[in-house]
Amino acid sequence: MHYFSYQHGELHCEGVPLSRIADEVGTPVYVYSRQTLVRHCRVFREAFAGIPHTICFAVKANSNLSVLRTIAGEGIGADIVSGGELFRALKAGIDPAMIVYAGVGKQSHEIARALEIGIKMFNVESRGEMDVIQQVAKSLGKVAPIAIRVNPNVDAGTHPYISTGLRQNKFGIGIEGVMDDYQYAHGLSHVEVVGVHCHIGSQLTDIQPFVDALQIIRQLVLDLREQGIVLRYLDMGGGLGIRYNAETPPSPEELARAIRPIVADLGCELIFEPGRVLVGNAGIFLTRVIYTKSNYERKFIVVDGAMNDLARPSLYGSYHDILPADEAAGRQGTALADVVGPICETGDFFARERSVAPFAAGDLMALMSAGAYGFTMSSNYNSRPRVAEVMVDGDTYRVVRRRETFDDLVRLEEEV
Ligand code: LLP
Repeated sequence: MHYFSYQHGELHCEGVPLSRIADEVGTPVYVYSRQTLVRHCRVFREAFAGIPHTICFAVKANSNLSVLRTIAGEGIGADIVSGGELFRALKAGIDPAMIVYAGVGKQSHEIARALEIGIKMFNVESRGEMDVIQQVAKSLGKVAPIAIRVNPNVDAGTHPYISTGLRQNKFGIGIEGVMDDYQYAHGLSHVEVVGVHCHIGSQLTDIQPFVDALQIIRQLVLDLREQGIVLRYLDMGGGLGIRYNAETPPSPEELARAIRPIVADLGCELIFEPGRVLVGNAGIFLTRVIYTKSNYERKFIVVDGAMNDLARPSLYGSYHDILPADEAAGRQGTALADVVGPICETGDFFARERSVAPFAAGDLMALMSAGAYGFTMSSNYNSRPRVAEVMVDGDTYRVVRRRETFDDLVRLEEEV
């Protein structure tokens, strides 16, 4: 569910025509719908009402300060993976007591900062990391709350690059040996074991892998209790998929219904780390056609956006729906074409052999469902300034990140 729709023949975000944003802010540009974002936060929250829980938005999905501030306004915290994300979360007004910190490579300076401000917990991914947390906490005279991130060896059934809970993945600690690691952490003077964490992958479209992982975690919680280690938090990670094309992912309500009976008697507070499901369909990437061309039998639509702006199609072969801003264009039939950017790589595409509206030079094109892992994964490759981000609210919009200039491209460089 989102608030991008055709009104009077023109694609709008809420009450604002995309053509107006393109004219006033330029293209390419990310456009976010504030009302969609707020709605997604509420749907997620309401699904788990009645189960004690905290929602920590996965900042990596979209770290724009205005997005974070909107989400924080809905009573949601943050799941972070770097000192930079911690900085952003705090700047956006997120309560440190609602921040959880994952990642296989946390460094002492990042751990120290998180301890100083008092985050909810560290999701620890190795014995080595435990030792560093112990050392840093000791030097600061603090006790670090930790969960162990468990790798349950469950197949999330998603793209291999975004599967994280299999034995060959770098994430977490294998379930077989994890009791020893819990005992070890329990024995550390400046570490308090408070939870268990598990995130098996992203864009999950089936409920079963969540259930399988949770059953394993449930047993672990019970086994630990027998050993005298009582966990307060059960962090299920993120991963709930969205509809990009023809997927039918479970709704937050369906997920809640499936997990409720598994966790009901554990007495743990649940933590969720949704990213994509909150922001994915709340944003689009708006680009303009520069040229159309044919080579041999193939048709190409060349747009002003590229893989540096939206990397997902190139990186994962992912699908984003392609709509013309002008509804009439969509009624004039379809053409089989590759939608490509100006970057000097064959991998620079948004769609290949896709049936799309017969776009012509100058037309505006919306790549839908680009609110998650869109701008956050963008780069300056080919010396392309990073694009602007716009947030629409009702009939108005604000530029929430200005377009970079050529001067921005070289601002940090020294000529020697
Ligand atoms: N928690 C942890 C520990 C994670 O690693 C992730 C995502 C999340 C939560 C949020 O997952 P979500 O609810 O968004 O699925 N760039 C890829 C996705 C990478 C996901 C990485 N981890 C993409 O564009 O599909």
